[in-house]
Amino acid sequence: MSDKEKELAGAKVSDFLSDGMILGLGTGTTFFYALKKIGEMVKEGLQIKAVSTSSATDKLAESYNVPLLSIDDVDEIDLTIDGADEVDSNFNGIKGGGGALLFEKIVAKSSKKNLWVLDSSKIVDKIGDFPLPIEVVPFALGNVFKRLDKLGYNPEIRMNKGKKFLTDSGNYIIDVNLGIIDDPYKMEVELNIIPGVVENGLFLDIVDIVVVGKGDGVEIIRKE
Ligand code: 5RP
Repeated sequence: MSDKEKELAGAKVSDFLSDGMILGLGTGTTFFYALKKIGEMVKEGLQIKAVSTSSATDKLAESYNVPLLSIDDVDEIDLTIDGADEVDSNFNGIKGGGGALLFEKIVAKSSKKNLWVLDSSKIVDKIGDFPLPIEVVPFALGNVFKRLDKLGYNPEIRMNKGKKFLTDSGNYIIDVNLGIIDDPYKMEVELNIIPGVVENGLFLDIVDIVVVGKGDGVEIIRKE
């Protein structure tokens, strides 16, 4: 993981922005650099409005004077920019390392285009090495944990400073350690039909453009 690669990828979003756009704003340390660039461009006069995916991004966007809208105020978002934890060659990914997967998926699926900014360590042959986050309502936490354990998915309740990590929706996260996910489409359905599961971090057929920081440069990979 390289901070320089994250910064290079984040700054490259300038190539994809124009006046009048409604943007979706992701969450995370790589997205931070993209938002920094968006903030600079807004300061220089770029006219955009944006929908945020987390309370952390709300605060950052406000500090950069990026005008925010509620998702209820927009019919469609032109472009959502976000980070990711892993992406494979089929443009399928895992997200939610920062815990914002639910709002991120709602915003991503309301967008005409999705662009991810990444450092080169996030590109993988097959997704699944990164623990897959599953957002669970508090009532069902123990119950869902037991089901995932029985399935052999090596669940772990996500913690933060000695307490259970709480999402912006007031839910908990269970990370499952799967190794390689051979059939992510089957896995997505299998997880989401468990009662109490709100969403999972598989982002399948969502991203259109991947901007990867690589050494001193940036590679742009577009879905055909
Ligand atoms: C947050 C996310 C992040 O975009 C993802 O975890 C990547 O974060 P980072 O750029 O900090 O590695 O999905 O829910």
